[in-house]
Amino acid sequence: MKVEIMIFILILFLFFMWLGLGKSKPPGTYSKGSDEENIGDILTSMSLEEKAGQMTLVAEYAIKDKNDIGKKGIGGILSGGGGYPVPNTPESWRLMINSFQKEALASRTGIPLFYGVDAVHGHNNVEGAVIFPHNIGLGASRSSELVRETAFITAQEMLGTGANWNFAPVLSLPRDMRWGRVYESFGNDQALVSELGRHYILGLNEAGVLATPKHYLGEGFEEWGSSKDYLLDQGAITLSEEELLGDSLEPFEKAVNSGAMSIMVSRSSWQGVKISANKRLLTNILKEHLNFKGFLVSDWGAIDQISDNDYRNTVEAINAGIDMVMVPENYGEFIDNVVRAVNSGDIPESRINDAVERILRAKKSIGLFNVSITKHPDPDVLGNPEHRNVARRAVRESLVLLKNEGVLPITKGKSVILAGRGGDDVGLQSGGWTIEWQGREGKIPGGTSILEGLRRELPDCDITFEAEGDFIIPEKADIGIAVISEKPYAEGAGDTENLGLSESDRKVIESVKKHSKKTVLLVLAGRPLIISDVINQADAVVMAWLPGSEGDGIAEVLSGKYDFKGKLPLAWPKSMEAVKEKGEDPLFEFGYGLNYGLLVENEFYGT
Ligand code: BGC
Ligand code: BGC
Repeated sequence: MKVEIMIFILILFLFFMWLGLGKSKPPGTYSKGSDEENIGDILTSMSLEEKAGQMTLVAEYAIKDKNDIGKKGIGGILSGGGGYPVPNTPESWRLMINSFQKEALASRTGIPLFYGVDAVHGHNNVEGAVIFPHNIGLGASRSSELVRETAFITAQEMLGTGANWNFAPVLSLPRDMRWGRVYESFGNDQALVSELGRHYILGLNEAGVLATPKHYLGEGFEEWGSSKDYLLDQGAITLSEEELLGDSLEPFEKAVNSGAMSIMVSRSSWQGVKISANKRLLTNILKEHLNFKGFLVSDWGAIDQISDNDYRNTVEAINAGIDMVMVPENYGEFIDNVVRAVNSGDIPESRINDAVERILRAKKSIGLFNVSITKHPDPDVLGNPEHRNVARRAVRESLVLLKNEGVLPITKGKSVILAGRGGDDVGLQSGGWTIEWQGREGKIPGGTSILEGLRRELPDCDITFEAEGDFIIPEKADIGIAVISEKPYAEGAGDTENLGLSESDRKVIESVKKHSKKTVLLVLAGRPLIISDVINQADAVVMAWLPGSEGDGIAEVLSGKYDFKGKLPLAWPKSMEAVKEKGEDPLFEFGYGLNYGLLVENEFYGT
């Protein structure tokens, strides 16, 4: 009898042991331990190849065979700038991402996928999404609560299509206004960038989307002319370690403390070495000193820039502390290199385990293991009226009034002329990273242009628009608005030697001045332009940055329905010489911005 009981207990024991073995679990089922225990379980059940796959981030267009996602255990897929399904509708995004997610869930490990996008001002690759002002405008608003709300809405629109990972916010600190990424930053004051960045991360976290502050570290401090492919972007930083940490670490420190679980590493170099290969910055400072528990993702093709040897690049980047590599194309080769490096002892297996553990921890942090495709994303949330209301508010609060000599607000019954292509072009007012990587001129579905906004807000004003300023009008209008705009650009393609106005901008200003009693200069640009030579021709100057899809927000302030709130998030240089010499004597100081003084009589809306 006793022996039988003992055998029975032994069998029971063996049965439970068998149940508990990671490798024998059906795909996608994990024990109900704590998150960290769970991660440990998953990790021990994974092969080296599967771990290497988990460390791989692939561009959507580069997936040649969907079966590879499950077979190779790919960790993440992204749509880069200008990446979208055809037709570019929220519903086809949802179908596309779900079809990838299904492959991952059906794989042996059943680990869900990260789907990453650069939703840097709204879910901006998708036609029909709300497009917020670029960060520089949010920086001018100085409203952390607004930033948090824009991030939350962006995340909801992302989740509406199944995307769960946002390569945002940018925490760079631009010093040189010639750089093509100035507008992606919140400004160049560490405290401001830290605070707004922190709230952006909180907004994404609240919605359950993974935030990725970028690009670590020192971005904005590169020397002009030091870049291999561009003029400044991805160039060289020469600061000492003390200066580098003192001048640019704070926003990342705050980001880590706010729960950021992934950080993207810069493609620039510091003291002659690409940051993607710098163990001191990635491992010692970020992971050890700041106690960052999430994972580091390299930027697009970044590790290819370390040297001309692919195998060596993989070894150096991963040993330095990169956990997931945005390959973005030759994923098979990358996975093979990781496996080879571990087998030959060039990368310690403990480093791979650490990387995968960090990635899985981040996947857990947004609840990926619980939701995935069963959550049924709702593409109808994209661009809904509540979201557009918040974007319109963001536009209003981002505008900076630089000069106003008795012209604004535009009061009832005035005749108004509007000139400049940006006056009626949502693409121009949205800038880069809008549908296309480099942005595009022309209509953006669902958007409202400045002209449309003015007509709506000032129904009894007579408004005439001429893109090139060729007015044929019998007498001078009461008010003329000259819109000058930068052509859309993104990243290094926007690095430019010259921030002066173009010939066509000058023509627009001249003709507006000729045909109106008072001239308002409205600037649509990602950075301060050199306006010293035209500012005296204008009675008022408004910096509108790159406001995005809700152009009526501009009209709501020009009409006096709302007051100006924006303050410059960086100083406005006087001349190109001052830009080049990093001159100290700006045309407008950091923090400058006028308003109507609140007691403005409001003819349309009462007080
Ligand atoms: C940019 C990143 C972006 C990535 C993916 C890179 O070129 O530097 O900011 O997240 O592409 O689109
Ligand atoms: C992608 C961008 C990426 C860039 C990097 C483009 O083709 O669409 O997302 O940032 O390449 O060079």
